[in-house]
Amino acid sequence: MSVEPIEALVTAALSGTPIEKEYELLKTGLARCGTTADTFDAAAYDPRTVVFARDMWLARMEVEHRSTSVFSQLATQLMEANASLDCKAVMLRMAYDELRHTENCADVVRAMGGVAEVPTNVAVAPLAVHRGCTPEERALRNVIYTTCMSEMVAVARFVDSLDEMTDPYLRDRTRLLLADEILHGQFGFHYLTAWKPWLDAHPEAVRGIERFLTHGFSVMEDALAGPPTRPIVRTPDEIALGLPDPSRARDIFFQTMEHATVPGIERFGIDAGKAWRERRKLV
Ligand SMILES: [Fe+2]
Ligand SMILES: [Fe+2]
Repeated sequence: MSVEPIEALVTAALSGTPIEKEYELLKTGLARCGTTADTFDAAAYDPRTVVFARDMWLARMEVEHRSTSVFSQLATQLMEANASLDCKAVMLRMAYDELRHTENCADVVRAMGGVAEVPTNVAVAPLAVHRGCTPEERALRNVIYTTCMSEMVAVARFVDSLDEMTDPYLRDRTRLLLADEILHGQFGFHYLTAWKPWLDAHPEAVRGIERFLTHGFSVMEDALAGPPTRPIVRTPDEIALGLPDPSRARDIFFQTMEHATVPGIERFGIDAGKAWRERRKLV
């Protein structure tokens, strides 16, 4: 379904009202780690590399902002699936996390001398409804796709980035994102644990999820793997500031699917390995 575009300038501006105080309370209460470095030392690096890294954080700001609408819609699907209260609450928390990540990225852009504004289409793409599915299976399909698959790739790439990058300010800011993304990546596996009795009682839903995965893995590969490319030689500054090698990012996608996502889903009696091997578009 196509959605009419809504052009807007996304920023991390606050309202100037007491709502800000409530937002600060949320931030403090739910922060999973703190920071130690408050400023970014641009003079320590090649200025062009700083701009590349800053642009990456600006692009990330837009992606984080968009992720909010995925989880907020998924929370609605969890309501329809009559999921447990904690799962619904944490799904909403994850939507909120992505707004906090938007603010974190905006802070980084400003610290690196940029303007934290992104002109973007803010129209919300509707989450897949998987016509003909029960509400329970629909929620399971979308939870697996967004968390066990997409967020797990984000986690693996942030971990890889942290392994290499040395700038203290950017390491702190990356760790803030990673701390939440780990929860987001794990959510789907915990959700599957909660729904295992239901899956055992509904083998037709397990087959339906396997059919969906055959399609979903292929869509995910197109969306996240990136094109095949040769390894590039990065400068020490590029590595220090966390600029990725696209060939390495692609490799991480496949490693994550094959060694984390697929075996993780298979623990619940879902043949994700076959779906991965036979992945292709089914519609
Ligand atoms: Fe995020
Ligand atoms: Fe996330």
